[in-house]
Amino acid sequence: MIRLTIDKKTVEVEPGTTILKAAHKAGVEIPTLCHFELCDMGIENKPGGCRICVVEVEGRRNLAPSCMTEVQEGMVINTHNIRVLNARTTVLKLIISDHPFDCLVCAKSGDCELQDLARQFGIRTVPYGGEQSHYRKDTSPSIIRDVDKCIMCRRCEMMCNEVQTVGALSAVNRGFMSVVAPAFEMNLEDSPCTYCGQCVSVCPTGALTEVDHTNEIIRALSDPKKTVVVQTAPAVRAALGEEFGLEPGTLVTGRMVSALRELGFDHVFDTDFSADLTIMEEGTELLQRLRGHLAGDPNVRLPILTSCCPGWVNFFEHNFPDLLDVPSTAKSPQQMFGAIAKSWFADRIGVERKDLVVVSIMPCLAKK
Ligand code: SF4
Ligand code: SF4
Ligand code: SF4
Ligand code: FES
Repeated sequence: MIRLTIDKKTVEVEPGTTILKAAHKAGVEIPTLCHFELCDMGIENKPGGCRICVVEVEGRRNLAPSCMTEVQEGMVINTHNIRVLNARTTVLKLIISDHPFDCLVCAKSGDCELQDLARQFGIRTVPYGGEQSHYRKDTSPSIIRDVDKCIMCRRCEMMCNEVQTVGALSAVNRGFMSVVAPAFEMNLEDSPCTYCGQCVSVCPTGALTEVDHTNEIIRALSDPKKTVVVQTAPAVRAALGEEFGLEPGTLVTGRMVSALRELGFDHVFDTDFSADLTIMEEGTELLQRLRGHLAGDPNVRLPILTSCCPGWVNFFEHNFPDLLDVPSTAKSPQQMFGAIAKSWFADRIGVERKDLVVVSIMPCLAKK
């Protein structure tokens, strides 16, 4: 074990531990921006680019990025003295000097790590003028890339390449013009992106946001001619509570349905309903394929893979175009629900199809 002192607290950690993690163990929190860790998967993003996490190591001339610097025996570290705070403030002002002042109209406002840091550090003026980098906005059916708000933390790249193994994003260009983008700076829509949305979920700023349909839903809910039906994916009832301060994983099914009814939805369904239909369709298709195979048909593809997830189907289409007849031809449960609601359910409740609006609350951007 290695013994060191952080803000006058003695702590012992394994060799190879970073100062950031040692500080966390000692109960000292150091701000970070580019650093991101998926503990369960053993994947860590630490490009060391932002320098918000710098600390003072006594006896060392320069401040050290705590997310990248490993502890050494006897180190004495100061994480919040005036030298460190001044350095972090300067770093933050430099980042903001090449960032649009769009907080009032930014989709990420209120949930933005850069905005939070600017508030914590009491940034009121940015003394560094000069040129700002500008890029075109890239809007796809699911994701909006507003690269002017990118701080090059490269978390999205880690998610896309290491976790999702899609490889749609990487750093391109150099210096002031460097940016995280699809190859040849093509639009996301033309890239192998599956719209899984994982890059959006880790982006600390408004550089990557989902396409928002909230206003369309509000318009439908306030239109007396419309019957508005909502389906919620199974994941939503398990994940939603966390947004309201409950323990992660708390089931909030009843509260969620009540809230949706309060909002004005006329009918609330669980996508489980159409997932059962998908299973029946896929099961029927499997039996058909097995019958064909047992009858000696050489054109039958086995095994059969599920087609429930549009992100997975996108992944398959982009990466295995020669195996497109392997996944089932069944629609996803969400798509099946839309079809059933607009036909069978509309007839059953006596509503014309054009007056029935189907809203999906889903955990995945590929379903947009
Ligand atoms: S990304 Fe954050 S800091 Fe930038 S404009 Fe949006 S809310 Fe403000
Ligand atoms: S949505 Fe998924 S596949 Fe597309 S760029 Fe983001 S992480 Fe990659
Ligand atoms: S797009 Fe977002 S996650 Fe990706 S590098 Fe820029 S700020 Fe980081
Ligand atoms: S969080 Fe350490 S360099 Fe960005």
